[in-house]
Amino acid sequence: MATEAAGDRPLVVAVENLQKSYRSGFWLRTVLTPLQSVSLEVRQGETFGLLGPNGAGKTTFLKILLGLVKPSGGQGTLLGHPLGDRAVRQRIGYLPENPYFYDYLTAWEFLEFTAGLFGLSTATCKERIPLLLEMVGLNLKDARKKQMRRYSKGMVQRVAWRKP
Ligand SMILES: Nc1ncnc2c1ncn2[C@@H]1O[C@H](COP(=O)(O)OP(=O)(O)O)[C@@H](O)[C@H]1O
Ligand SMILES: [Mg+2]
Repeated sequence: MATEAAGDRPLVVAVENLQKSYRSGFWLRTVLTPLQSVSLEVRQGETFGLLGPNGAGKTTFLKILLGLVKPSGGQGTLLGHPLGDRAVRQRIGYLPENPYFYDYLTAWEFLEFTAGLFGLSTATCKERIPLLLEMVGLNLKDARKKQMRRYSKGMVQRVAWRKP
């Protein structure tokens, strides 16, 4: 059986000579360059990890991919869109180590609120929220009754998970 060569699969991430410098200090005279020249490609189906010591620039790189930080130089695409294109955000998931949610909302309220931002109806929410909770293994009773400030870290991360 012929296997598809990795190079034939669509590009998910493609960046070329990506560079980021920050100015810091009181007079902004200190220039820090966490990303000097990053070029890489990630194709569909690949699992790609970024490893490096603290301060190496991993988060900066991810923020640039997400369009949260502007690169100082270089270019790239994410799912075929230029970096920073907001349209692509609907198609990507990002699970931070410490997601920040509204402490005094329950998971259910938070999901309802988020669904509202995306224009989903109350009826759709009623149907979909239990399915999502089941998908991530979050107890329905906790989701309905418990404020998120009472959740464990793992439970909060389950709320933050997004289906790729
Ligand atoms: N907004 C910012 N302003 C100034 N320096 C920053 C900013 N964000 C990150 N840095 C610096 O850039 C470097 C890379 O940080 P970061 O990307 O968070 O590293 P990592 O995630 O690999 O630990 C660090 O030295 C950090 O202090
Ligand atoms: Mg980091």
